Amino acid sequence: IDPSLDLIAEINRLRKEKNAIILAHYYQEPIIQDLADYIGDSLGLSRKAAETDADLIVFAGVHFMAETAKILNPDKKVVIPDLNAGCSLADSCPADAFAAFKAQYPDHLVISYINCSAAVKALSDIICTSSNAEHIVRQIPPEQPILFAPDRNLGRYLIRKTGRDMVLWDGICIVHETFSEKKILQLKARYPDALVLAHPECEEAVLQHADFIGSTSAIRRFARESPHTTFIVATEEGILHQMRKDCPEKTFIPAPPDNGCNCSQCPHMRLHTLEKLYLALRYEQPEITMDEELRQRALRPILRMLEMSR
Ligand code: 13P
Ligand code: SF4
Repeated sequence: IDPSLDLIAEINRLRKEKNAIILAHYYQEPIIQDLADYIGDSLGLSRKAAETDADLIVFAGVHFMAETAKILNPDKKVVIPDLNAGCSLADSCPADAFAAFKAQYPDHLVISYINCSAAVKALSDIICTSSNAEHIVRQIPPEQPILFAPDRNLGRYLIRKTGRDMVLWDGICIVHETFSEKKILQLKARYPDALVLAHPECEEAVLQHADFIGSTSAIRRFARESPHTTFIVATEEGILHQMRKDCPEKTFIPAPPDNGCNCSQCPHMRLHTLEKLYLALRYEQPEITMDEELRQRALRPILRMLEMSR
């Protein structure tokens, strides 16, 4: 890339010229969030992808998110700035191992968290995200046994919340499982008026200290609408950018992880950069492609989710 190029101006020119939409998750670096046409949680991004009339979708999120956009839009081109932007939760649930696990529970309804591959979606009955999981589980008749994959922390949280006994796949998110309960308690002692806001992918030891548990969009909304002024935030620190923009007068403290580097950035999400975003928009690659038969099988449980979370 020519170093004299004004990347932001070029991105703005190209997106108009190509009728492109830039979708970004909250865990993207601030400069990418500021450029996006839409920023949201997994459910919001899926809905936006389902309704867009853009010809080109540039997805600044992890692979399963861009893949979901492609499943919903087979005739549109979906590109991702870095094709290696995976997800530890999706990686923790390979489709062949999951198919064998599922075969042990033939009577169970399979609800899968959207953080999984298209192949795992194709093996599922309903998809959910952190913002609609509880709502979806509550709609399942009590006599119907449920298998939930791949996030064991979200699964355990749903069991506690709904009282439903579910079989769980043993997957975790490497970012959310490292938040330190001890450091959160130290912060609470230092800021006694602070509320703790946590994503349900966090471990139970952290969730038990949370005043609010929800998806990234729900955490953002809660802080905006709350009369409180100080918050300890236990999710990827990218979300603090929007929270601080929403409420410049409030104090947001990222919950510290126990990983030695004291940062809570998702290494997959952070593979995307402004330069890669520009190149993806300009050359329309790397592109998300998928076998049509797989796409159709993965689409069914996503459509069921969209219907059930209306
Ligand atoms: P949200 O749907 O809450 O944005 O979560 C996505 C995610 O990957 C959390 O780690
Ligand atoms: Fe996946 Fe965790 Fe990164 Fe979210 S934060 S994209 S669950 S690895």
